[in-house]
Amino acid sequence: MDSISLIRPDDLHLHLRDGDAMRCVVEDTARQFARAIIMPNLKPPVTTVRQAEAYRERILSCLSESSDFQPLMTLYLTDNTAISEIKQIAENEHVHAIKYYPAGATTNSDHGVTDIEKVYPLFEYMADLSIPLLIHGEVTDPEIDIFDREKVFIEQTLLPLINRFENLRVVLEHITTSDAVAFVQNGPETLAATITAHHLIQNRNALFENGIRPHNYCLPVLKRESHRQALLDIVASGHPRFFLGSDSAPHAREAKESACGCAGVYSAHSAIELYASVFEELGVLDKFEAFASFNGADFYGLARNTGKITLEKVEWVIPESFAFADSEIVPFLAGEKCNWKLKTV
Ligand code: DOR
Ligand code: ZN
Repeated sequence: MDSISLIRPDDLHLHLRDGDAMRCVVEDTARQFARAIIMPNLKPPVTTVRQAEAYRERILSCLSESSDFQPLMTLYLTDNTAISEIKQIAENEHVHAIKYYPAGATTNSDHGVTDIEKVYPLFEYMADLSIPLLIHGEVTDPEIDIFDREKVFIEQTLLPLINRFENLRVVLEHITTSDAVAFVQNGPETLAATITAHHLIQNRNALFENGIRPHNYCLPVLKRESHRQALLDIVASGHPRFFLGSDSAPHAREAKESACGCAGVYSAHSAIELYASVFEELGVLDKFEAFASFNGADFYGLARNTGKITLEKVEWVIPESFAFADSEIVPFLAGEKCNWKLKTV
């Protein structure tokens, strides 16, 4: 096959940052995707509908005139989120979900929830109003091995949550383990998961290839090969409750290449091409369009996109770096070959 066409995809998990940094990355997503769920972990976080509206305007102002890319906004859940905000989301056409970060779990999560039971009353409203809860699914207990934090979160936090709020729609974000795959697969129709390109392509060896590789460090951290295989198996199966969420998360080079480097992989630049390579290698390109363009929209209750994109079988090399505000950014798989290329119209 020399080319594939599919309905324009959506990225159901994306970090755009803000200001000059955002200006440098937003077009990478907009040229591939019709829409993206925008993560709210700015400094300070986006905690109100009013802030989300203002952030959306800033995103739109960075786009070229011809772009019809739509940012789908989210709020950052805190211990103090008011019920009135939940009600406002239900009436707002631009805010689509609430993101739950356990306090301290990842980049800019300091304002996250300290004890999930504190926000249980909000979940009642969210369930009634059909507002999805997006979950960073890792425990923060430093006693728990970092490679086990997703599994333990599922057992300790997610299972009781799902049992208690039967009608709450939940997306377990950027899943990394066979435990998460099984949990979502066997779970109710109200439960779905996003999968990143980097967790499909790399296992944890990529963190230590001939030395430490800060640009492959993200959270949840890469896992062992058997977990990657479980992710590949579920996307190859075409299961409808698993969909594309790149979790592209840009950080300046010096923030990554540091004694305490930030978590986050910048994959937006070649996201759809990398996912296409994964599906091709699995021999399931026929399952690609549903994963990239239908499953997420269906779960969120959004209309499917109408336009199309085309990818061509062309080998190209991912650049070593890009400008990023007053610094630069090193993209995922910098300097490596990619064998699909988005056709520009
Ligand atoms: O690797 C990550 N980077 N994981 C997250 O959960 C947050 C993200 C970021 O914002 O940089
Ligand atoms: Zn993320």
